[in-house]
Amino acid sequence: MTTVRILPEILSNQIAAGEVVERPSSVVKELVENSIDAKASAITIEVEKSGKSLIRVSDDGIGLSRDDALLSIERYATSKIFTKEDLFSISTMGFRGEALPSIASVSKLTMVTRPKDRDTGTRIEIFGGKVRSVSDIGAPVGTLVEVKDLFFNTPARKKFLKSDTTEISHISDGIAGIALGNPDIRFRFFSNKSLQKNFPLSDSLFQRTVNVLGTEVSGKMNEISHSEDGLAISGYCVLPDIVRNSASKIFLFVNRRLVYDRGLISAIFQGYRGRLMKGRYPLLVLFIDIAFDQVDVNVHPTKREVRFFNHQRVYGAVSGAIGKSFSIPQKDISGDSPLKFSQSSVPPAFHPDRPVLIRENDSPGVEQSVMTWGKPADMPVYKKPDRAGTRMPELPKEKPHTPVMFYSDPPRIIGQVMGTYILAESGSGLLLIDQHAAHERIVYEALKKKLKISNMAGQSLLIPETVELTHRESDILLSLIPDLSILGIEVEPFGGTTFVIKSIPSIISGKEMKPILTKIIEKTLTEKDESSKDGWLDECLILMACHRAVRANSRMNAAEMQNLLKDLETCDNPMHCPHGRPIMVTMSKNDLEKLFKRIV
Ligand SMILES: Nc1ncnc2c1ncn2[C@@H]1O[C@H](COP(=O)(O)OP(=O)(O)OP(=O)(O)O)[C@@H](O)[C@H]1O
Ligand SMILES: [Mg+2]
Repeated sequence: MTTVRILPEILSNQIAAGEVVERPSSVVKELVENSIDAKASAITIEVEKSGKSLIRVSDDGIGLSRDDALLSIERYATSKIFTKEDLFSISTMGFRGEALPSIASVSKLTMVTRPKDRDTGTRIEIFGGKVRSVSDIGAPVGTLVEVKDLFFNTPARKKFLKSDTTEISHISDGIAGIALGNPDIRFRFFSNKSLQKNFPLSDSLFQRTVNVLGTEVSGKMNEISHSEDGLAISGYCVLPDIVRNSASKIFLFVNRRLVYDRGLISAIFQGYRGRLMKGRYPLLVLFIDIAFDQVDVNVHPTKREVRFFNHQRVYGAVSGAIGKSFSIPQKDISGDSPLKFSQSSVPPAFHPDRPVLIRENDSPGVEQSVMTWGKPADMPVYKKPDRAGTRMPELPKEKPHTPVMFYSDPPRIIGQVMGTYILAESGSGLLLIDQHAAHERIVYEALKKKLKISNMAGQSLLIPETVELTHRESDILLSLIPDLSILGIEVEPFGGTTFVIKSIPSIISGKEMKPILTKIIEKTLTEKDESSKDGWLDECLILMACHRAVRANSRMNAAEMQNLLKDLETCDNPMHCPHGRPIMVTMSKNDLEKLFKRIV
């Protein structure tokens, strides 16, 4: 029974050639993937000196007969695809018939293998690509591949290897990725004979994710689940209170193959939009299962790149699925997050007519006008907190959201501190709320809802404002005119590089519009090519919300604070401002007791 065959030459040429073996971790990856393809249920990885002196991978998979074992070390020998059609519907990890011969050519490789239907196993030794010996040997069913002295015959490449710590972390990250993709397989990883990782056989994907990402993520993961015709997306995304400075904990699988794709990473950021600070990366495990004819995995020799035939669709579905995971209640969030929500919006200890803080300046001035939205900017609001008209009256009533993060009780406002933070007490402890960030979030979501319903209505300016721009800026602005009208901003050229602003969104005043417009142009200059139109519109909304929102160092009276918290409750994401900064910090009773050393 010969299962390993030589690929037709044309076919083999269609397969991306190139370097498979860059470093010890690439050897580990190739050998482990072979074990997975051989249907192993337990795989053991052992390395010595970060894999530079020894890498050993053993499995309990189907094994190889003597003939097949000999064939497996020849270039383009693979048991996995036979025809051109197969190449486009690759469902195994390996398909090029390249890994073993490549590894064998730059190391001292020994393979011991035995299939179930044979009593004896085969041992093959190859040094630097040359077969040294072939013999029969008693062996358990399965395969063991030992790679010694990697790059012994290519000193230049050996020199490129990094420190043991770096190489080990590459190996460890690689194993983590593969283990996540295969929760039904047991993995053990030893370095210098000591056990580093042990991922048991019985893991569910949830458990494997916790085992791989660390227990800190348990109770802090949202489940991702989405399916549409020929495309399914699943996995877990970690709440943004745990982040990294790189994409190292983003694990992406396409048809169970670990991949890296910048477009997918951008789609993930899009999904987390407004929840992450700049430069921070989420922790995430994402599986994309897509019809085999909709994806090409044969783009790069290491097989980590993929090409989707309709990438916009896939990216859109990914960001949508992640975004959705934040707006539906999650069953598995641990009890320590402030998740309980009360719809009652008037805290018991608070009476709207009896402000807890005396306002220093109670006349409708600047401070009050910045609180306005959905109304002409000079009209003070929040005077009477319970009047429905103060809260975006022109918006159609939406179904109440089921927000994800809430106070455990209606908060009791204690007061404003430093003119910037609202201090309140709730069941989960002491709350400090950044008034600007909170208001920004509220205005942003209100604008977003408006835009979702239809283009925003502009409000004509009685005295149109003019703006002077540079040549470059005016070119950009000209191209933006149609898109700006979606936001209710009407701009016309006025000769040369001068433009006249004729109408603006109703929440913005004419004076405010100028700096916002300049910022929009600036942003477009630097980012428009990278973001989709929706992304660009969103950026514009964020800019407007930021301008409109109550500033730090502005006094707020009790009723204003009260209404701000009330509105925040109805937001989809009440925990982060649209830039991803936190809106509130909580100090539990426990935190305070620790601070005062009442408990240790
Ligand atoms: N652990 C293993 N158990 C059983 N068969 C194996 C094992 N490792 C390799 N083989 C056999 O050897 C063949 C060659 O392996 P190799 O890794 O070189 O190529 P591949 O996996 O087919 O493709 P790729 O180069 O993309 O990895 C495989 O097709 C498989 O039949
Ligand atoms: Mg392989």
